[in-house]
Formats: sequence, structure tokens, C-alpha cells
Amino acid sequence: PENVYATGPTDGPRVPVANNFEQRIPHYTRRVEAKLDDVLPGSEIQPSRLHEAMRYAIFNGGKRVRPLLVYSAGECLGISESLLDSPAAAIELIHAFSLVHDDLPAMDDDDLRRGMPTLHRRFDEATAILAADAMQPLAFAVLADIDGVAGDARARLVKLVAEACGSMGMTGGQSMDLGAEGRSLDAAELEHMFALKTGALIHASVMSTCVLADPIPDGHTAALDGFGRTIGLAFQVRDDLLDVEGKTEDIGKPAGSDERMEKATYPSLFGIEASRRRCEELLGESLGYLEALPNAAALNWLARFIVDRGK
Ligand code: IPE
Ligand code: IPE
Ligand code: MG
Ligand code: MG
Ligand code: MG
Repeated sequence: PENVYATGPTDGPRVPVANNFEQRIPHYTRRVEAKLDDVLPGSEIQPSRLHEAMRYAIFNGGKRVRPLLVYSAGECLGISESLLDSPAAAIELIHAFSLVHDDLPAMDDDDLRRGMPTLHRRFDEATAILAADAMQPLAFAVLADIDGVAGDARARLVKLVAEACGSMGMTGGQSMDLGAEGRSLDAAELEHMFALKTGALIHASVMSTCVLADPIPDGHTAALDGFGRTIGLAFQVRDDLLDVEGKTEDIGKPAGSDERMEKATYPSLFGIEASRRRCEELLGESLGYLEALPNAAALNWLARFIVDRGK
């Protein structure tokens, strides 16, 4: 990975400041978690059971991949961290709401998430539905409230995330996922479903930074768009592989859930080997897009993490 050096006033040894993204992860996760803590009502505020449930859904050890993508794409475009906290927190709120619904008996019917009982198991189904219902509008309130961004850019940010979340984004993909249970899809149909259910929010995480960068150099938008699309697909192929190959205690969710629900997944339709190959191919494509971007060491690291996690 590329090294980024501080340009100091002397000609002494150059100090690497930003070459090791891994060391910056705790800094970024602290930032987004502080923002989330700030915007989520305290559990002492009524209705306290609902607020407790929303906090349970958020502060339970997620990897924060989408916020990390926001901060990392922001590094490429030189956007100040303080502008990135809002999109990072908003997209994590949407992601957390999608997981709460995804785990409900009406959908994937899972009991374990991030190594803990799913929200409907720890609380009850109605509370899980309502906590997710409340996290979604909170995300848009956070975006609408972003400081230091002009009104038209705020509106574009809200629209970007709304579309990624809606019937032609994550929610549409979840609907296709349920419709595909027990069915055989071809690769294009399967990847279209992946692009919506998982890819849309990952893509929006990356693209949110383009709205905040003004002006954005030629070619950077296209490069981030291509990167976001390909790494979003790779993310779901890897997630499908982990459901087959991972252990429940490592992945923090019930291994084998997809087989039990007869989900259309990459490994179930095309086999483990083809899934691994597709993951590597998508990684290669995503890294190719990064060549057009400056300061892409963080995105480079995250792309490899997405494809290698759990190996
Ligand atoms: C899981 O996402 C759901 C999918 C889109 C596959 P993550 O693997 O990012 O889940 P957390 O947030 O780290 O728990
Ligand atoms: C979920 O895909 C995608 C979402 C939009 C939540 P999965 O159903 O495979 O996610 P996990 O494996 O339960 O995290
Ligand atoms: Mg699902
Ligand atoms: Mg699921
Ligand atoms: Mg899965």
C-alpha cells in the first residue's frame, strides 16, 4: 500500500502519518460511535424501552465497515473528518435497522447477531419492528442536520441515502432475497439482488463523500462509483461464503442460516470455488478503480479486509 508522509518543515526523516489505516480504525470507529451516542436518545428518555432497544441494535460490536468506507473515501477527496461523521452515522443507522428487520421471523428468522441475541429475541418482535422504524427516520434527520454543508448538498445527500435504502436499493433487494428462497437464479439475477440488498448502502457510503467534495476532480466520481459497486458485490459473496464456512462463534450469527432458509446464495448456486474466484475477481476490479484516486490506501485496505475477513 502507498505511504502518505507528513511534509515537515525540516529535511529530517519523513514521518509516516497516514500509511497504516489499521491504526486509524479505532479513531474512526470512536468518531462514528460518539456521533451515534450523541444522536440516539438516552434510554432514560421515554419511551425508554424503545430507546434502549435502538441503542442495543447499534452498540453491539458491529464492524462499522460502512462508516469506515465513508471516512476512507473522504481521505481520498481530502474532506474534513467532522463533515463525515453525519453520513457515517446515518448510514450505520440504516444498516442497523436493516439487520433488525432481516433477523425477524418473517424474514431470516435468526436468533444471534454480532454474537448477541437478536433484538426481537432480547426484547420482543413489536419492539424490534418499532426500533428499526425509528432508526430509519433518525438517519435522515442526522443528514438534514449536517453542519457546514450548503442546503442543496444536504438535500442531495438525503436523496442519495434515501434511494440506496428504498425499493430500488436495500429494501428492494431484501424483497428479491425473500422471493428467491428455494429458487435458482442465474449469476446476473443473483448479482442484481446483491447489488441492491447489500451493494446499495456500501455504494452510498462511498458516494456520500462526492456530494461533500466541492469541486470534485474529473474522474474521481467515476472511480469511486466503480469501486463502490464492485466492493459491494464482493461483500455479499464473502458474507455468503462465511455463512457456509464460518463458525457461529466467529461470525457472531448462526452459521448455516442460509441453507436452512433455502436462500439463493453464491455458494449454493455456483459452489464454494466459484464464489472464492468471484470474490477475488471483484477485489481485483475494485482495486483497479482505486488507481485513479489519490490517498486511496485506506480504501485499498478496506477492500482487502472485505474479501479476506474470516479467512
Ligand atoms: C451484514 O453486514 C449484513 C450484510 C449486508 C451482509 P456486516 O457484516 O457489515 O455486519 P456488521 O455491521 O459488522 O454486524
Ligand atoms: C442481508 O443479507 C442484507 C441486508 C440488507 C441486511 P444477509 O441476510 O445475508 O445478512 P446476514 O448474513 O443476516 O448478516
Ligand atoms: Mg437476509
Ligand atoms: Mg440474514
Ligand atoms: Mg448472510
